[in-house]
Amino acid sequence: MIPEHVTIIMDGNGRWAKQQGMQRLFGHRAGADSVRACCEYAVEKGIRYLSLFAFSEENWSRPKDEIDGLMELMIKSVIEEEPVFMKNNIRFRVIGDLSKVPSRVCEHIRECEEHTMNNTGLTLIIFLSYSGKWDIVQAVNRYAADREKGMVPPVCTADIFSGYLSTAGIPDPDLMIRTSGEQRLSNYLLWQCAYTEFYFTDVLWPDFRKEHLQNAVSEYEKRERRYGKTTEQLNK
Ligand code: IPE
Ligand code: IPE
Ligand code: MG
Repeated sequence: MIPEHVTIIMDGNGRWAKQQGMQRLFGHRAGADSVRACCEYAVEKGIRYLSLFAFSEENWSRPKDEIDGLMELMIKSVIEEEPVFMKNNIRFRVIGDLSKVPSRVCEHIRECEEHTMNNTGLTLIIFLSYSGKWDIVQAVNRYAADREKGMVPPVCTADIFSGYLSTAGIPDPDLMIRTSGEQRLSNYLLWQCAYTEFYFTDVLWPDFRKEHLQNAVSEYEKRERRYGKTTEQLNK
């Protein structure tokens, strides 16, 4: 079965640029082509959700020039891709701690989110200024506030809690891909990846194309998702 939600930690832009003797931003810009290729693949295959880790909370500690360049790239991509989203029925969403993101960037994001809100095909989610721990902590605080007002049951459950995460309503990722050979979560979707299948590849993000995504999906389709059960139980 094809995965309903594929998420990608897009890594290796800096190393790719270095290999070409270029600045890091050159790698980030080249990575935009990989995003487009993955969206095309997801639309063709009927994948419902494609989410991409674009900028972590920790990435705010990078050099200012690189951060500024990444924010400009975000604006440029949103403006350029909106017609493509409309043509392909793609709904665009951004998730993360946007209180840290420059307001000019937020405005462009909000506009694109609004314009594509009623599209019913692929949902493309960009995680920006996001971290898994931030998400869990903001969920705890919002749950606690509602509990104080008596708006929620006093005993929290996993289902209630999920509804307070920034990903509420979005199914947990079935497949998580990380490029560039790194094998870690880097504070990404900590709660939501509880039963996600992981796929790691040495390919650097700017080189990642449809065939690489196809390889990951094919590998996923061979996995047996047991959720604690035995193979015999699943085959009954
Ligand atoms: C991923 O590429 C993009 C972001 C984290 C913004 P990197 O910039 O981390 O590239 P490497 O890991 O230095 O090669
Ligand atoms: C993780 O990449 C975040 C994104 C891909 C946006 P990093 O390259 O920043 O991760 P670490 O710090 O090497 O783990
Ligand atoms: Mg990296």
